[in-house]
This record gives sequence, C-alpha cells and structure tokens, in this order.
Amino acid sequence: MPDYTHVIDGLRGRRIVLGVSGGIAAYKSAELTRALGHMGVDVHVVLTEAGARFVTPLTFQALSGNRAWSGFLDEKMEDGMPHIRLGRGMDAILVAPASADFIARLAAGLASDLLSTLCLARDCPLFVAPAMNRQMWENPATQRNVATLQSDGVTILGPAVGEQACGETGPGRMLEPEVLCEELNAFFTPKLLAGRKVVLTAGPTFEAVDPVRGITNASSGKMGYALAAACARAGSEVVLVSGPVALPVPVGVRRIEVTSALQMRDGVFAAVMGVDVFIAVAAVADYRPAEPAVHKIKKSGAAIHLELVPNPDILAEVAALPEAPFCVGFAAESRDLDTFAEEKRRAKRLPMLVGNLIGDGLGGDENTVVIYDEEGRHPLPRAPKTFIARQIVERIARLLPTK
Ligand code: PMT
Repeated sequence: MPDYTHVIDGLRGRRIVLGVSGGIAAYKSAELTRALGHMGVDVHVVLTEAGARFVTPLTFQALSGNRAWSGFLDEKMEDGMPHIRLGRGMDAILVAPASADFIARLAAGLASDLLSTLCLARDCPLFVAPAMNRQMWENPATQRNVATLQSDGVTILGPAVGEQACGETGPGRMLEPEVLCEELNAFFTPKLLAGRKVVLTAGPTFEAVDPVRGITNASSGKMGYALAAACARAGSEVVLVSGPVALPVPVGVRRIEVTSALQMRDGVFAAVMGVDVFIAVAAVADYRPAEPAVHKIKKSGAAIHLELVPNPDILAEVAALPEAPFCVGFAAESRDLDTFAEEKRRAKRLPMLVGNLIGDGLGGDENTVVIYDEEGRHPLPRAPKTFIARQIVERIARLLPTK
C-alpha cells in the first residue's frame, strides 16, 4: 500500500461519494477507497451496474466501512430516496473510473441509474476521472461531452497517457489513486497563497571531483518537495529548483533539475525575479573542488589533496536583491539550534528561518522544527514533513506583505 499521508491535510473529516462506473480501472477504485479512508475521509461508494461487474459492492463496503450502493433500486434501500439522501451533506462526488458511456449520460443529464441520478441531484462539486481506450477518449463525441461537462462546472481529472488494458498506448488511463487524492486535497485546501509566485530549492547538490565521484550530502529532498506541494495546494505558482533526488514532481509544480550549487544558483536566478517568496530548503554544498579532474582519478598509494573553493550563497544573494522576495531560509544544525539558527537568520537578513536538528530532519519522513521570525521562536511538534510544510505555509501567508 503506497504512503498517502502527504495528502492528508485538506481531506480529513470530508464526506465524499465515490462513483464507480464500468471499466477495468475499477480495481484501482478499491485502492482509492482505502486511501481516502486512511486520510480520514468518510467514503460512500455508488456503483453503476457495469461497475459492479468489475468489482463487487461487497469489496467497497469492506474497504469503506459504509454500505456500497449499486444499480438503481437497491433492495437494501430504507427510505426509497437514496438518489437524494446520499448526496446531501457530501463535500464532493468523484466518479472514478468514468467510462465514455457514463460521461455521455452525465453530459446528456440522464438519470438512468442511482449514480447518474445522484450526480444530477447533487448540491456539491462533481469530479470526473475518465478511463477508456485512447480512441474512445479522442472521439469527437467524447470530447464534446467532456467540453459540455466542463462548461457545466464539472472538474475533469486526467486522463493520464500510457499503456492501456487493451494493449494500446495513449491518453485514457485513469489517474492513479494518489494523484486523485492530491487533486481533491488541493481543491479543499484554503488558498492562502492565491496569486503568489514561489521559488524553492530542495535536495542536496553534487560537486564533481572527477567524472564519477563527487561531494554531496544526505538530503532526500522530502522537506523541500513537501513544501513545494503545500505552496501549490495553497494556490501559488511554484518553481522548484531541485538537486539530485528520487522524488516525483508534485502536482502543480514546475521543476528545474540541477546537480551542482552553481547550476542551482543559475536555476534560481532564471526563476526568482519578480516572485513573492523564495524558500531555500536545499542543503547546498558550501565548497566545491577547485578543478574537477577531467578523467577518473586512478588509485595509488599516495595521499590526495583536494583543493576546495567556496560556493556562492544563493539565499544570501537573493535576499540582497534590491527588490528581494520574502525570503525563508532553513538551517540544519547538530547542536545549539536556537543560537545558530538565529545567527543565520540575522546574518542573511531573513524575515523567517526554519531550524531543525540534523538527527530530526535529514532524510526521514518526519521532522521537528522551530520557526524563527521577528516575533520570536515558534516550535512545532514533531510531525510528518507534509504537516510541517502546511504550517510553514500558514506562517509565510501571515507574514507576507499584502500586495
Ligand atoms: O531533504 P531532507 O532529507 O528532507 O532534509 C531536509 C533538510 C534537513 C535538508 C532541511 O530541512 C534543511 O535544514 N535545509 C538547510 C540545510 C542547511 O544546513 O543549510 P545551511 O545551514 O548550510 O544554509 C542555510 C540556508 O542557506 C539554507 O536555507 C540553505 O538552503 C541556504 N544556502 C546555503 C549555502 C549556499 N551556498 N546557498 C544557500 O542558498
């Protein structure tokens, strides 16, 4: 089971109807049900007759802990009005997978089964995640129907491009459960940074010693990526200048991939002019080899002396710009966090800095941080980096000068 904890914050306590229409991707809806449940969402599954042929209502019932409905007149129905009652008090309806046939029915406003009736009688936002063969998706009839739904205010999520169950390749794959959760989460997250532009750095840098070796550190990029995702969810335009890490690009984020500190500086200066916020999460190497060897250094019995020269301080340079953005620094220390973190904040003239001890923050999924700003120190309890990121965004939004 993938880890979905990073998409938890806007979804906890929500009530969502998950509609499942007929398609092989219905098996992914079982995982989606479970993932939403893990995030504290109260999931109510409604299947079309075709959907129930792919995965039984019993499966969804077991995974959601709620009765799963199917067809039109479910014999277990108590008050005879599930098409109205089920939709009331819901925060959203998500149809995943949505087949070409179901999309056509939605676009025509048909009420031919419980799910389509529920969608027609809804008083909450409707999300549709198409899943079908690529030619069915590209067919003008489907495209017309999708355009109709969009103009009716329905949000279309996906489809993804890739290998299909039929063996063909192209657009039409249902988005992965994790991405669907993230999309819903973004919808429900308050837009604290709407209209703002944010640039971040994340991960380590790698300073070449020779063509195969280099100086780097253990930063995983998790803190920076969580923060980039939280900024995007909060409504800002986000550019993430990232050192070498093994993490996917967060939804709504543009990534510039770099290796060395000098490349990171170029990436930042290509993106930072005119932005509102710059957040330096990267663990940038302070020094680089003065002259990396052109060829692989051969082993010998003799000692090797490596001459290191200082790298530019990217954060200090951005903070010193005449029209500098709101700059947030990070500091990873092995001791005396308060003293060293405040020293760094003042030396670089930053309105805000996030301090963490190396043992707490480097590499893992959780962190314990203290935020330092002009109002003092604000310790946050240990939590997943995604939660910490959300709280940092809230603090930035509070301190950011109004436009
Ligand atoms: O990536 P993870 O595994 O999730 O770990 C997260 C983290 C521990 C790397 C992160 O939370 C963190 O603390 N990042 C800052 C690391 C650090 O110690 O930075 P520093 O003290 O060397 O630099 C202070 C600040 O200046 C940082 O914002 C840094 O990005 C920036 N800096 C430093 C040197 C340099 N040449 N250019 C910079 O921009």
